[in-house]
Amino acid sequence: MAKIVVLTGAGMSAESGLQTFRGTGGLWEGHRVEDVATPQAWQRQPEVVQRFYNERRRQLLSVSPNTAHYALADLQLHHQVLIITQNVDDLHERAGSKDVMHLHGELLKVRSTRDESLIYAWDKDLTMDDRCDLGSILRPHIVWFGEYVPMLEPAIQEMQSADVVLVIGSSMQVYPAASLVAFAPAGADIYYIDPYPSLNHELRVRPHLHVVEMKATEGVPQVIEKLKVKM
Ligand code: APR
Repeated sequence: MAKIVVLTGAGMSAESGLQTFRGTGGLWEGHRVEDVATPQAWQRQPEVVQRFYNERRRQLLSVSPNTAHYALADLQLHHQVLIITQNVDDLHERAGSKDVMHLHGELLKVRSTRDESLIYAWDKDLTMDDRCDLGSILRPHIVWFGEYVPMLEPAIQEMQSADVVLVIGSSMQVYPAASLVAFAPAGADIYYIDPYPSLNHELRVRPHLHVVEMKATEGVPQVIEKLKVKM
């Protein structure tokens, strides 16, 4: 059975109402990245960081998966599909997808600042008064810029045995996630689904690249129908 590896970015959740990070009106434009998503920001002004993620957590609880999330979950029922996401939302899981690999962490989890293996499900505001079981401050379970990406190695290994890769809703500008397609076998078909495609180096050099200049809710079902015929 062909193995399909899916790499999703913020554009996957755009039609669910969650803002993307770059481009007009992007989330980061609302906040300077340096102000909220770096270890330095956490050291300097943790309350600002907490407030930024509390806003995003509240918003996440008010939105729903879109038809592209559901189309991928349905594909997983009958095919070998692994979803690797740069997104910290739980919309893939809420649509029914299993074993989603989160490269950049998860918004609905927090972790101890003393023992990073102490991770807690968390769907309310996080404050500086909340404590882990060891009595230490809790932080968002998010990979901040400049921090180590623990799921990168497993993601690379999965990509190395992909027969088909779908890249959905990512500007492919943030490394190391943006380098992942380079690890797919040379013969793999790569479908890049994005209404405003921006091809990074790793995508441009792929021999079997198919650019689908569409929104996720249109492009994902169309590509899946094409794959079902081929497989
Ligand atoms: N459907 C599909 N793609 C869309 C849609 C849509 N409806 N709307 C926008 N897009 C595309 C944009 O054209 C853009 O290429 O989604 C992409 C979003 O790119 P970014 O905002 O850069 O998001 P992403 O690639 O996921 O960023 C990667 O950067 O800020 C960090 O950790 C953060 O995980 C994030 C990482």
